[in-house]
Amino acid sequence: MGNTYAHYIPALSFDWLTPLYDPIVGWMMREAAFKRRLVEQARIESGHHVLDLGCGTATLTILVKQAHPDAEVVGLDGGQRILDIARARIAKAGLAIALDRGMAYD
Ligand SMILES: C[S@@+](CC[C@H](N)C(=O)[O-])C[C@H]1O[C@@H](n2cnc3c(N)ncnc32)[C@H](O)[C@@H]1O
Repeated sequence: MGNTYAHYIPALSFDWLTPLYDPIVGWMMREAAFKRRLVEQARIESGHHVLDLGCGTATLTILVKQAHPDAEVVGLDGGQRILDIARARIAKAGLAIALDRGMAYD
């Protein structure tokens, strides 16, 4: 088996910058507004299985689950550090969202 994560690129290019991802994105763009719009456009329905590929800190993943509690929502990301942040946010929100570490091309 090769090195699964050899081509992994962290959210802000460098793993050590990962804790700054949410503050930077929140400061640079109207994140909440555009992600809410994205969830609307996805037309998710009750019972759908939703995969958030490259879920990062799970901001979008959480919005999907909050808007569609009856959908099964899974977040996948290649970064352990960013998934740790995502896991903490999901626990704080008290939501049933599964997270997995893996690469999109696997
Ligand atoms: C720009 S961030 C976007 C995060 C999140 N979707 C959001 O909207 O805030 C891209 C994410 O993709 C992940 N990533 C990059 N390449 C990946 C790959 N090949 N497979 C899985 N995740 C990957 C990074 O760890 C990062 O969390």
